[in-house]
Amino acid sequence: MAQQASRRDFLRSVGIAGGAGVMYSAMGALGLAPVPDVRAEEYRAPQRGDFALTGRSGKKVLILGGGIAGLATAYELGKAGYDCRILEAKDRPGGRNWTVRGGTTLTDLDGRTQTASFSKGQYMNAGPARLPQSHVTLEYCRELGVPLEVFTNQNANAYIYHENSAALAGEAIRWRTAKADVYGYVSELLAKATDRGALDKELTADDKERLIAFLRNFGAIKGKADGYAYAGTDRRGYSAEPGAAFEEGTVLGPVPSMADVIASGVGQRFSFELGYDQAMLMFQPVGGMDAIPYALAKAIGQDRITYGAKALEVNDLQDGAEVTYEDAQGRTRTQRADFVVAAVPPMIMARLRHNLGADITAALKYAVPTPVGKIGLEYRSRWWETDEHIYGGITPTDMDLATIWYPSYGYQGRRGTLIGYYNFGANAIAYSDLPHAERLERAVSRGVKIHGDKYRTELDKSFSVAWHRTPHIEAGWVGWPSQTGPEYALLNKPAGHVYFAGDWLSHVIAWQHGAFTSARKVVTDIHERVMAA
Ligand code: PHE
Repeated sequence: MAQQASRRDFLRSVGIAGGAGVMYSAMGALGLAPVPDVRAEEYRAPQRGDFALTGRSGKKVLILGGGIAGLATAYELGKAGYDCRILEAKDRPGGRNWTVRGGTTLTDLDGRTQTASFSKGQYMNAGPARLPQSHVTLEYCRELGVPLEVFTNQNANAYIYHENSAALAGEAIRWRTAKADVYGYVSELLAKATDRGALDKELTADDKERLIAFLRNFGAIKGKADGYAYAGTDRRGYSAEPGAAFEEGTVLGPVPSMADVIASGVGQRFSFELGYDQAMLMFQPVGGMDAIPYALAKAIGQDRITYGAKALEVNDLQDGAEVTYEDAQGRTRTQRADFVVAAVPPMIMARLRHNLGADITAALKYAVPTPVGKIGLEYRSRWWETDEHIYGGITPTDMDLATIWYPSYGYQGRRGTLIGYYNFGANAIAYSDLPHAERLERAVSRGVKIHGDKYRTELDKSFSVAWHRTPHIEAGWVGWPSQTGPEYALLNKPAGHVYFAGDWLSHVIAWQHGAFTSARKVVTDIHERVMAA
């Protein structure tokens, strides 16, 4: 009993001193929990108690940008009672975390305005749309009470569509069919090579036997007597489904030749789901990704966020920093704080007046903005479900639309909203150069090649975003020519009392995880500085 209590006390003390991560590994050391395999960098949120014991108090922190990094900075520092204020140029929190619903309006940098007319319950996540299981974003959802649901990132029933391939061009091929054929033929080749002794240097007789057993299972190929041939399998799917009594179904055929399957390039698509950040199973907040920034904004306190505030100038001072901005009424104002956290895109920060030095400007300009576009297409019916048995997932293509996404919400409902393109770089620019109606026409003219006329006839409403042409954002994300050079290092340090935060200052760029972890780093740096002063 006494031992029990002291052990619990010990765990509690470790928990308080070091956060859940330390507690968990301590439990592992005691044999109470499995030792954790992977987790985000150790992070301990600042706490009120940190000040209570030392007579220090929360400092004033002014944050530029109410995207995920800015919100997370205010949220985390707020836990210890820091007096945080966010200046956000837009009229909403979230930055690129933006869910478009009926009534949402966007005027882009070209002066073109769209107003979404999506039906009730229909939405598109214009920015982030999928959350990996490993990301701290999920931890924030838990902490903030944002409910999650599965996002299907890869679906065996979705298609692969290549129109420029050397074989099978212009055929919409189900993922499952493509996999059956590629795995089948690759298994056939490897089994033959193994059997003929081509791998005798690498493999013992036992190895060969086991490898062939694996290949027979992996590729559904025939045995030695039949030359290990791949001749198709029900893994390809059916042209007539099996059913009652004597209905065996008809396996989808004919099976294309080995040469055609290889030349089609479909096999090149399978590595997508092996990427660490991408997987078949992912998550999304119920009702739209923007549940995350709205929950953060609520937790921070709406009165701490000033919308319509466009930063003009940032100056580091002897004992703090100050920001000059234009408020929603067009008045110029200046605010002082102990620290400023610039959580805005680097190329925008580079254009502000500041006294942080030419090196900072050069480093900010060193980041390379990536053009990214997305279009949401609301349909009167969910024909992809009723006619094609596709419930969520993505069809990759070699067309300029890049990918078509089927919604991972609202299954079996009346209406549904697809993503009709999600593309980067030159493809994103090709679409963003056009006014919305022409973007739509271009996307639909591609989509009908895969899905037929209903892709046009069932279409009801649409909305497109070009992140690189969106005010106060200006990119889908940024890249760095190098993250080991002086520029990146410089921005990961404070310039006097001015700190920088954002997914662009992480190794998880283009994910909210990058923004959260960058914010946590800046929060830790500020808090340590304050506690050491
Ligand atoms: N996070 C974004 C996405 O999932 C951008 C991205 C794509 C990042 C692919 C890494 C890899 O679409």
